[in-house]
Amino acid sequence: MTTGKTHEGKVALVTGAGQGIGQAIAVALGERGASVIATDLAIPQETVSKIGSTARGFQLDVTKEEDWNAVLTKSQDWGGVDIVVNNAGYFPNRPIDELDLATWRKTITTNLDSHFLSVKYFLPAMRKKKWGRFVGISSNMVGLAIPGMSHYIATKMGIIGFMRGLANDVADDGITANAVLPGLTETLATAQQPDEMKRSVWEQQAIKRLGKPNDITGAVLFLTSNDASFITGQAIVVDGGQYRIG
Ligand SMILES: NC(=O)c1ccc[n+]([C@@H]2O[C@H](COP(=O)([O-])OP(=O)(O)OC[C@H]3O[C@@H](n4cnc5c(N)ncnc54)[C@H](O)[C@@H]3O)[C@@H](O)[C@H]2O)c1
Repeated sequence: MTTGKTHEGKVALVTGAGQGIGQAIAVALGERGASVIATDLAIPQETVSKIGSTARGFQLDVTKEEDWNAVLTKSQDWGGVDIVVNNAGYFPNRPIDELDLATWRKTITTNLDSHFLSVKYFLPAMRKKKWGRFVGISSNMVGLAIPGMSHYIATKMGIIGFMRGLANDVADDGITANAVLPGLTETLATAQQPDEMKRSVWEQQAIKRLGKPNDITGAVLFLTSNDASFITGQAIVVDGGQYRIG
């Protein structure tokens, strides 16, 4: 893998960066030379420590508009955020007969309001700089027959739709918007799933092993680099070849 400083001079904000895929993305962006704003429900201290002095950690509940506003204010002295990776997600399993409105709404707010709010607060500075990147972490589950996840799949399709629409509105200012669709990935969130369930997933992949957070970072690094300046409104599946589209 290239280890050049492809992201030097860029400021990258990652949500849900305290663990799992979000932490791996934040660390990878830091390794590529970006200044990283790592955010989570609590200040993601471990992630900041892993990156070092080019990282700052802030508390940001992605469902709360006042938190987005506060992080915008706190990040001003870094000259404006160039890259936003919306990674924080909520994904409880609820068969449709057990799904209640509160869970539905929390899933929508966490997984979708967050994307809109990030644009509301961080797009203006990108427009001024004539450069910007939005990456939404969706899921390959949008193409799989997994029960109990209708609310989650609705939001993860919504992320793809929002990125497609957003791409049209921001393109003139050198800003792109894309979605990354991970497959089943080994994180604390999936740790409690039985091994045979995980195996049954990765046996459907061309690459027969469970994905790790570091498997997801390459697509995010590419989409947020200058190499991907002509790629927008796209959905890139990163799942070892389980779900095939097109
Ligand atoms: N792990 C997988 O198998 C998998 C597969 C496909 C997609 N994804 C997606 O990848 C993303 C990360 O998944 P993960 O497995 O690393 O999850 P995780 O649960 O390990 O980590 C998610 C992080 O998001 C934070 N978070 C939750 N709600 C938040 C909120 N309201 N505001 C701010 N932060 C919040 C949590 O505190 C946590 O640190 C999610 O969007 C998930 O839907 C995961």
